[in-house]
Amino acid sequence: MHRIAPSILSADFACLGEEVRAVIAAGADWIHFDVMDNHYVPNLTIGPAVAAAIKPHCVTTDGQPVPLDVHLMVQPVDALATAFANAGADVITFHPDAAKHVDRTLQLIRDAGCQAGLVFNPATSLDVLNWVIDKIDIVLLMSVNPGFGGQSFIESTYRKIEAVRTLIDSTGRDIRLEVDGGIKVDNIGRVAAAGADTFVAGSAIFNEPDYRQVINAMRKNLVNPS
Ligand code: DX5
Ligand code: ZN
Repeated sequence: MHRIAPSILSADFACLGEEVRAVIAAGADWIHFDVMDNHYVPNLTIGPAVAAAIKPHCVTTDGQPVPLDVHLMVQPVDALATAFANAGADVITFHPDAAKHVDRTLQLIRDAGCQAGLVFNPATSLDVLNWVIDKIDIVLLMSVNPGFGGQSFIESTYRKIEAVRTLIDSTGRDIRLEVDGGIKVDNIGRVAAAGADTFVAGSAIFNEPDYRQVINAMRKNLVNPS
């Protein structure tokens, strides 16, 4: 049930296809794809053409597809959500404070055949979740302020994970709880113990020479949270 989702934000952009294949061979469950527009967040990254280019690489060596998890840090949301669905995204998450009509955007993503989710910044309230929880496949909690890799995990996220876990369990629906930012080998166990099941990690994996060693160490700490 646990999924490790390396963020290619910290990969070598000069050889993304190779990086995606390498991290999947090292045990990645999902590929996390960070889209930044220099408007909603103060950074600029990669668009639908890059998603379409790496999509054929999102497969295990024995041919199993690996979900492409697109995290939109953009405003407005709708046109880009559609473009990423067409580019091969499997999961699309967006920030509700960046969207004018959250319910409509969730519907649009699901109608395009993708799983849909909302992302909450560290200081963003969860209220909106109560009204759209029946249309959500995944909740993504930011444990750093969005925009950059390599930042430190914000402690209040643990409480927020617990709150969302309680809400998800009360629905009885199969909704993923993903956490993004500052996740390392030494805190992933605590993030899991608070109730998360999907873990984004960028710098912790791509800044090390041996991706497999990091992913294995993370998985070990998921089995035995410290
Ligand atoms: C931050 C991005 C993250 C980022 C995480 O805005 O959404 O996905 O790549 O990077 P680390 O794991 O280095 O904090
Ligand atoms: Zn992200």
